[in-house]
Amino acid sequence: MRHLLDTRTLSRDDAIRILDVAEDMAVTQGREVKKLPTLRGKTIVNLFFEDSTRTRISFEAAAKRLSADVINFSAKGSSVSKGESLQDTAQTLQAMSADAVVIRHGASGAPRTLATSEWVDAGVVNAGDGTHEHPTQALLDAFTMRRRRYGAESSRGRDLAGYRVTIVGDILHSRVARSNVWLLNTLGAEVTLVAPPTLLPQDVSQWPVQVRYSLDEAIADAPDAVMMLRIQLERMNAAYFPSEREYGRRWGLTPSRFAALANDTIVMHPGPMNRGLEICAEAADSPRATVLEQVANGISVRMAVLYLLLAGDDTKKEDR
Ligand code: CP
Repeated sequence: MRHLLDTRTLSRDDAIRILDVAEDMAVTQGREVKKLPTLRGKTIVNLFFEDSTRTRISFEAAAKRLSADVINFSAKGSSVSKGESLQDTAQTLQAMSADAVVIRHGASGAPRTLATSEWVDAGVVNAGDGTHEHPTQALLDAFTMRRRRYGAESSRGRDLAGYRVTIVGDILHSRVARSNVWLLNTLGAEVTLVAPPTLLPQDVSQWPVQVRYSLDEAIADAPDAVMMLRIQLERMNAAYFPSEREYGRRWGLTPSRFAALANDTIVMHPGPMNRGLEICAEAADSPRATVLEQVANGISVRMAVLYLLLAGDDTKKEDR
């Protein structure tokens, strides 16, 4: 694997390979000595042009647990605020001999621009670009679902055929939703989207999903997993967003909807959560919520991605 830019073009074999290697990484995390020497001498740059807690920290933890050197770059406080371009920033990192660049950027397509440019000769991992994709989030979500379905001991080699996932909320702005839709489809899962019509993308009819507008009806279908998405208020245009009160009443996972879930339905959220808006505290803090499990699994999945990108891989730029 040279880069990880999206899940839309990720093959089933590659996806399962990442999830299986993540299982191996998870085993090492359970041991007393958590650190592996695998990426000693490699340099990984975390290049974050947008805010992040989980993704940035878990990529840093993953790289360190593989013994790589890590450089953290945040646009805030850097020369980006003086107008420095992505090209000049990338070339500065190239001069520091980065082997991999993990990039989060507000512009959809920025990771691909970097990967296909001559600016850097490093593997590129998309850590979230605009409203496009967030592939490692979808991989850690699939890892969490697979473990919940089969157990850690029996997950290897398996996909999610027949697993039923309902994704709820601000699909329009969600790179997490897009990456999950493509990956879950590749892995054989059945995906239902639930949202107000104004928070669905225009091309949703071409996605491999079922669309519903009533969360109550979707819950009555007893899905295996309900994934609540963050309402991205910072990207919202008041003209098409229902009021927060209205949104919570119709599309939020309220205490009464949480009580109506089937006994074995898990509750997922990529974080950060708007408690009391898209998800109530009873659901977020319940044993059936996988929110913190997803965060922990994110380290294993990101270790797997960095390992597959960098370990023993002397692929050169012309192999892209
Ligand atoms: N899920 C996610 O991407 O969280 P952060 O924005 O905190 O990285």
